Amino acid sequence: MKEQEKPWQGRFDEATDKLVEEFTSSHATDRHLARHDILGSKAHAKTLARAAIISEAELAAILKGLDEVGKEIAAGAFKWSDALEDVHMHIESRLFEIIGDPAHKLHTARSRNDQVALDLRLYLRERIVLVQRLICDMQDALCALATKNISAILPGYTHLQRAQPVLLAHHLLAYFEMLSRDGERFDQMLSRVNILPLGAAALAGTTFPIDRQYTANLLGFDGVAVNSMDAVSDRDSAIEFCAAASLCMAHLSRLCEEIILWSSAEFGFVTLSDSVSTGSSIMPQKKNPDVAELVRGKTGRVYGSLMALLTLMKSLPLTYNRDMQEDKPPLFDAADTLCACLAVTARMIDNTKVNAEKMRRAASQGFLNATDLADYLAAKGLPFRRAHHAAGKAVAFALAQGKELEQLSLEELTRFDKNIQKDIYDFLTLESVVSRRKSIGGTAPQLVKKALAQAKRQIAKERRLLEKLSFEAKGQ
Ligand code: ARG
Repeated sequence: MKEQEKPWQGRFDEATDKLVEEFTSSHATDRHLARHDILGSKAHAKTLARAAIISEAELAAILKGLDEVGKEIAAGAFKWSDALEDVHMHIESRLFEIIGDPAHKLHTARSRNDQVALDLRLYLRERIVLVQRLICDMQDALCALATKNISAILPGYTHLQRAQPVLLAHHLLAYFEMLSRDGERFDQMLSRVNILPLGAAALAGTTFPIDRQYTANLLGFDGVAVNSMDAVSDRDSAIEFCAAASLCMAHLSRLCEEIILWSSAEFGFVTLSDSVSTGSSIMPQKKNPDVAELVRGKTGRVYGSLMALLTLMKSLPLTYNRDMQEDKPPLFDAADTLCACLAVTARMIDNTKVNAEKMRRAASQGFLNATDLADYLAAKGLPFRRAHHAAGKAVAFALAQGKELEQLSLEELTRFDKNIQKDIYDFLTLESVVSRRKSIGGTAPQLVKKALAQAKRQIAKERRLLEKLSFEAKGQ
């Protein structure tokens, strides 16, 4: 084969049109798989040697040559060209330049179809672990902010209207829970992703006596794809990754939206440090929460990737279709975006100052203890609906007077229900309103402190598991 000749040249008389070369090439994107491609090719070469398809000397040359190609790519010294289409052909072609003939034996019992499927899985499992680590970092940041402000109380909202007071730590731990489920989703997908597709060859399997289990063991896979046609057609894992990434971004976007609101003068609940804020080129007074806004904006971008992949794969007949080359841009973009957003949001949370006084003031105004007045009456035996009605009347009265419920006199309060007594005033304080919510998962400080301690233990456990996780060669 001459240099720059296509691997399929045997059947072709004409050279490829330059416009077509340009259009079909994917190396600009799939070069990010170079490391994975080389890792996979080394394992494939070892498998070929074990089956005596190539000699030990050829294997040694291939392994050495592949390492060299890897170094060139990592150093940015590699020459990429549309004529060589994708990362797989580039690596093989350069290997041939370095070691000659043995390079052309490497593609025995393999097709680019199972090769690219392998590279994607190697890429994904690495990303999954990275995302899980970044989720732990994010959770750490939330726990640290909660711990630092353990007694801060702010309004909890429904419909963005003040509803009931909650501990800030409780509010932050809600995000901890969302992120825990995200981490779980990535963890669970690993068992489906970490399966070897190589050996499926083009689509039907190979005539060569390769030991696929051996390859799987070399690459630290948990199993071997059992159907060759599925192995080369399947992009479920890329879609699953983007789906989990989308949900995680949804969670980050909600947190960021709250940071944006809370850092506005209207709320004033938090102040972001200068290091995580940006200014305006015209308005000298401005300090903007751009990080949070960008995370909110990039969420749409990750959803877009998910949609692109779902649409790409819809109705594709088995097995490989060139359409599938379009899987990489959205997948890589979603993975990069998610990782960047997790890291930068954690940094922003680390640099958030809580204005506990402002939070407390907001929680003390606007009848956030009205439910408690109703609960007080219901506890005295009134049906809750009647208690609710009486408390509602009291709110309307206080509102007209420009007062809070606890600022009404006992005489005024008893007009709405005769069961109200002096102890109502202790009942309606911010601290007692919060402390009484002791049902499992409630905002009572004693529960939140326990939840926070439990959350920290959970992160430590997760980090230990991630540390132990490795994709090293198994028992060879
Ligand atoms: N660059 C291709 C992709 O990413 C590799 C597989 C090509 N296979 C083929 N038969 N053209 O999908």
